[in-house]
Amino acid sequence: MDKFVIQGGRRLSGKVKIGGAKNAALILMAASILGRSKSVIRRVPHLSDVVMQGKILQELGMKLSFGQGGRLEVEPEDSAPSVAPYKLVRKLRGSVCVLGPLLGSRRHVRVSMPGGCIIGTRPIDLHVKGLRALNADVRVEHGYVVADAPDLRGGEVYMGGPFGSTVLGTANVMMAASVAKGRTVIHCAACEPEIQDLAKFLNKMGARIRGAGSPTITINGVKELHGAEHEVIPDRIEAITFMLAGAITKGDVTVTHCRPEHVSAAIDKLQEMGAAVTKGRNWVRVACNRRLKAADMTTLPYPGLPTDAQAQQMALLSVSNGTSVVTEKVFPDRFMHIAELNRMGADIRKEGPTAVVVGVPRLSGAPVMASDLRASAGLVLAALAAKGKSVIRRVYHIDRGYERIEEKFKVLNGRISRVPDETGSDDEE
Ligand code: EPZ
Repeated sequence: MDKFVIQGGRRLSGKVKIGGAKNAALILMAASILGRSKSVIRRVPHLSDVVMQGKILQELGMKLSFGQGGRLEVEPEDSAPSVAPYKLVRKLRGSVCVLGPLLGSRRHVRVSMPGGCIIGTRPIDLHVKGLRALNADVRVEHGYVVADAPDLRGGEVYMGGPFGSTVLGTANVMMAASVAKGRTVIHCAACEPEIQDLAKFLNKMGARIRGAGSPTITINGVKELHGAEHEVIPDRIEAITFMLAGAITKGDVTVTHCRPEHVSAAIDKLQEMGAAVTKGRNWVRVACNRRLKAADMTTLPYPGLPTDAQAQQMALLSVSNGTSVVTEKVFPDRFMHIAELNRMGADIRKEGPTAVVVGVPRLSGAPVMASDLRASAGLVLAALAAKGKSVIRRVYHIDRGYERIEEKFKVLNGRISRVPDETGSDDEE
């Protein structure tokens, strides 16, 4: 296990290249199950979650080959059982999106129930509802979702839940419906760029999908799909994380190879807080030479402020001038980072799905613990801005979703060293 040792207080400046989106890559990998021939996915980020999704695909009889520059070839190899076991699914909840493509291509599937995690309970009732609308018999048996659909047929389904639509649930229904008989209409579909990317890939594979990116998606089922070649969209959460790094260190950071239109809510919030933000076709520059103003924020499904950037935003608010109210409307319990930020001198109080952040002039370096992927990214930002040294333990969480984050920060003048955590996570620093 590694830890990060971070010397804070340095102004970050320069350019950083954004990689392929983890959450798009995971879905595209699952979609490749539907192809009768080889698919090539480019710009796949080298992340532990991607490696784990690869293992699940191999378990399902797919042959994978990772090449240079994020090139991944996936093709069906043998007819392994359509079972995604608990031992793998529990490590990666994103793997639940093999449900739809397996049902589509093999008409029978058993996928372990993902269970809850540190960010919330993560139910899959909407996935089940969506697949039932396609004439599938779906039930939960012994901790597994078991689905059979000898006669998979298009249907009409509303995918909204108490916290809006569901990204992976929408993806599952799109994938199964692509090879179902007849027409499917998904109402209240997730509009996230990852869903738009999936639709593009599926259409290249021979699917007939319209409306992705809007709340109504129409799918005209086809008999079968073939492999296709596709490049993963840039990671909007990685882009926002580095934009916020520029702001929190009163620096000047340009994120390149990104899609500014995918991060417009974060740009708007930074401007409201007083940062200078400029952008071009595929870059965004955030410059800031003073403490920013506090601002209230609410996470929402796309195109609202993403929940996956809430911890990083909160790190910035913790050193802003004034009091901010942060409301989490996607995963109302996703606040594990508050206690750790407070260890660094922040003044944050949680009240239900809301946190009240009283900005302090400066954080101070401290030993802290990463609890999940995005919470860890928030701690890295806080540590980069803090006075003195911080040690962040359990950085394997960060490696799930950020490729070589410490090297990217080094290019920007950040001082982060990755060192083996030989002393164990219970030691005092
Ligand atoms: C995806 O998870 C992402 N994961 C998450 O990113 C992201 O936080 C989330 O979308 C929201 O943007 C991947 O793409 C692999 P949801 P997903 O279903 O699809 C509720 C990260 O850090 N809900 O859109 O599983 C749910 O509890 C990860 O990269 C139901 O009620 O999220 C939540 O409140 C973490 N019933 C809301 O909907 C369901 O059947 C949105 O969840 C499904 C979801």
